Amino acid sequence: MKYSLDELQSVTQKLTSVIAPKDIIGINGPLGAGKTTLIKALCSHWDIPTDEVTSPTYVYHHIYEGKIKVHHMDLYRIESEDILQSLDLVSFAQGNDVTFVEWMELYPDAFGSYLEIQIEILNDQDRELSFNLARLSIEDQMRFAKVL
Ligand SMILES: Nc1ncnc2c1ncn2[C@@H]1O[C@H](COP(=O)(O)OP(=O)(O)OP(=O)(O)O)[C@@H](O)[C@H]1O
Ligand SMILES: [Mg+2]
Repeated sequence: MKYSLDELQSVTQKLTSVIAPKDIIGINGPLGAGKTTLIKALCSHWDIPTDEVTSPTYVYHHIYEGKIKVHHMDLYRIESEDILQSLDLVSFAQGNDVTFVEWMELYPDAFGSYLEIQIEILNDQDRELSFNLARLSIEDQMRFAKVL
């Protein structure tokens, strides 16, 4: 799916129509791809103020409360699997809330089952979004496949 910033709303609508409690969504893509921008747009749908949603690059984990509770994680600066484990991020993601993880590709197996979103930079304005459902249960694959 190709989108510009102006078209982010339609991507958001599609995704929020299927995201459910307990979902973990890993977002991958190079620096400046738009991982945080996408999460901001999704959070805004759940009435979380966009200025609250910032990259948790140095603190690894933000928690937002809107219509739903959202965990926003960023693995970019986590230097080892041991550090990741000691931060206990995975157990935060295992509750009933929705969790977004930037740079999931750095520790692709740590979070178990999740929807993987890849963002590619096409040019200044345009991004290409692709979805990998392979790490989800069959049931979750069917749920997401209806809209993605
Ligand atoms: N179609 C688009 N979708 C998302 N961002 C876009 C788009 N077009 C331009 N941009 C710009 O690209 C930048 C994306 O930055 P953002 O912080 O979201 O990236 P990121 O993937 O989270 O980076 P990092 O790896 O540093 O966390 C923003 O400045 C945004 O305005
Ligand atoms: Mg970011």
